This record gives sequence, C-alpha cells and structure tokens, in this order.
Amino acid sequence: MNAIRAVAVGCGRMSTRFLEAARDAGGVEIVGLVDLALPMAEARRAEFGLAQAAVGTDLAEMLDTVKPDAVFDIVVPDARHAIATTALRHGCHLLTEKPMAASMADARDLVATAAASGRIHAMIQNRRYLAGVRRIARLLRSGALGPVSAIYGDFFLGPHFGGFREQMKHVLLLDMAIHTFDVARLFAGSEASSVHCREWNPAHSWYAHGASAIATFDMANGVLVSYRGSWAAEGLRTSWEASWRIVCANGTLTWDGEDDIRAERVVGPGYFSQTEPVAIPPIDPADRVGGHRGVIEDFRDAIRTGLPPETAGAENIKSLAMVFGAIESAETGQTVNLI
Ligand SMILES: NC(=O)c1ccc[n+]([C@@H]2O[C@H](COP(=O)([O-])OP(=O)(O)OC[C@H]3O[C@@H](n4cnc5c(N)ncnc54)[C@H](O)[C@@H]3O)[C@@H](O)[C@H]2O)c1
Repeated sequence: MNAIRAVAVGCGRMSTRFLEAARDAGGVEIVGLVDLALPMAEARRAEFGLAQAAVGTDLAEMLDTVKPDAVFDIVVPDARHAIATTALRHGCHLLTEKPMAASMADARDLVATAAASGRIHAMIQNRRYLAGVRRIARLLRSGALGPVSAIYGDFFLGPHFGGFREQMKHVLLLDMAIHTFDVARLFAGSEASSVHCREWNPAHSWYAHGASAIATFDMANGVLVSYRGSWAAEGLRTSWEASWRIVCANGTLTWDGEDDIRAERVVGPGYFSQTEPVAIPPIDPADRVGGHRGVIEDFRDAIRTGLPPETAGAENIKSLAMVFGAIESAETGQTVNLI
C-alpha cells in the first residue's frame, strides 16, 4: 500500500514527538516541513534524516507545490484555525494537535469545513491511546464492576514551563484539562450535559491566570465527573495522566495514572461489604495504543478506509465543549448546559 504523503506544519517542541510517532507508525512519508522560522523546519529535516522533504515558511505555498495527502498541524493554538482551514481547503486530510480551536465558534467552523471537504479531520488525543486508559475502559465496559456511577480525576503538578503558558488566561483549563476531560468522557461512555466550575489563581502561583480549577460535570448518561486540578501544586505530584477513582455500582477502580491500576468488587454482605480484587484486563489486540503513534495509525487507516477515526473532529468537539463550558461557568458563576 502506498504511504500517506504528509506535510508537517509547526516545527517546535511537539513536532519531535509527532515526527517520531509518524516514523514508528509506518505508512507515512513526510514530504514537507513548514515553520514561520525556516531554521526550525531545517533542523527537524536534519534531525529526522528527511533529506527528500521540502522546507518552507508558508503552508499554502507548500501545499500548492508538494500536493500531499495529509497535513499534520502542530502549530500554536492561535494559528490553528487559519492553518487547519488552509489544509482542508487544499483537499488535505488533517491531523491536528490539541486544542482543536481557540473558541467553540472556530471549532464548529472547522468541523463544517471538514465535512464540506469530505476529508478526515482528526484530533491528537494521545491520552486515549495509553495502555492504562484502554485497559480501564475495557474493564468498565465489561460490566465487572457494574454501571459507572462517578469518576474522580485529580491533577496536581507544579511545572515551571516559562514561555507563553505563564501569561495565558485560563491556563490549566485551556492548555491541559482537555486531556483529562477527554479521558473522563471515554471512561463515562457519554458526553457532558452540564458543568459547574470554580477557577482561581493561587496567591503563590507563578502563572498569570487560572492555574487551579475544580469542575463538576453531569454526563448525559447520569455519571458524575469530578475534576480537581492545579498547575501550581509543588510536591507530591500526580501523574500527567491524573490520578483516578471510579466508583461503580458493584465496586471501585483506582489508577495512579502510571502502572498501578486496582479494582475491587463486592462478593458478599457486611458492614463494609466483602470484596475481592478484580483482575485488570490486558491490552487486547483490538486496542490501539501508543499515544501519538496510536492516533497517527488510526488517522492513516481512516484515510485508507474512509471510516471516521476515534478522535474525529465532529465527535471530539464534545471534549472541547467541556473546556469552554468550564471556562464560561468559571467566568459567570453559573452552571452551563452543554447539550
Ligand atoms: N498532545 C500533547 O500532549 C501536547 C503537548 C504539548 C503541546 N501540545 C500542543 O502542540 C501544539 C504545538 O506546541 P509546541 O509546544 O510545539 O509549541 P512551540 O511554540 O514549541 O512550536 C510551535 C511552532 O509553530 C510555528 N508556527 C506558529 N504559527 C505558524 C504558522 N502560521 N505557520 C507555520 N508555523 C507556525 C512556530 O514558529 C513554532 O515553531 C500546541 O497546540 C500545543 O497545545 C500538545
């Protein structure tokens, strides 16, 4: 089968992970690299031994010349709408970094442009493709713990990024929480119907705005999702994948976001019911894993089959709605309906 010919636009920090994943996925040929700063594109070309790839500073010009099948959009969020629209209007399939857009209006516009173009429009939601997330989702779907009742995700780290994040408004919700919200939506097996959120910036915070937040989502199937997070929490940090407790009708699962997944279910009555450990299922061949690599493999296969990938924009916009709903709730103090 012919390789998918792809142009990568945005050759900053994330492009390294993206290009490694594309190489590991196979079936993808990088035919062009674009960055406003040409030396960034040249550096990636050298680093990945892509001597045949064209380099440039303007995506439209590159697409006119190289005529690729697909664009990997790895630019900064503010440039995304213009870059994504350019790619789709040139008839390219588009795989785009999070966040899908800088506003819900822009996101809806991109989903409509993608539908009109008939091309695949997919998001990088790499956390969905982690082995731990896949194994937990498989256990929950098996019914071994009974129906899911409530999902608690805690995210506490203190990264000193420097750069744009330290000036950004709503930094935690806008730049990070989408990952945790998207995984919560997968675990719940449903979309969010409403959100109430309190966001604040701790007095000791080294960010300009919104380093901490607590959000509660009602999911359409009755599951409650509780998110507590901070990017200004020094010491005793959680994993980047958050730390989880999932309470089901017949038992509970916990995950530290790394290798420790545990579950117990009720086997008999008592003041505290008698419980037994539940084995966490291994990865199934049908699970697509590998973070960025898994998403890129799905994207490649979606182009080949024409079937929408798991993180198609038209579906994944529901995770973005959780972010912008939480921000609106934090700003207004009101519960925000999402459907
Ligand atoms: N999925 C994840 O886990 C994850 C992690 C970190 C960052 N990200 C996302 O990846 C994206 C890129 O982040 P980064 O850390 O690489 O940023 P970065 O600032 O290091 O790199 C972005 C690059 O895009 C280039 N660029 C900006 N506008 C452009 C345009 N119009 N045309 C061509 N190039 C342009 C910049 O010159 C820069 O080199 C962001 O959307 C970010 O949110 C995702």
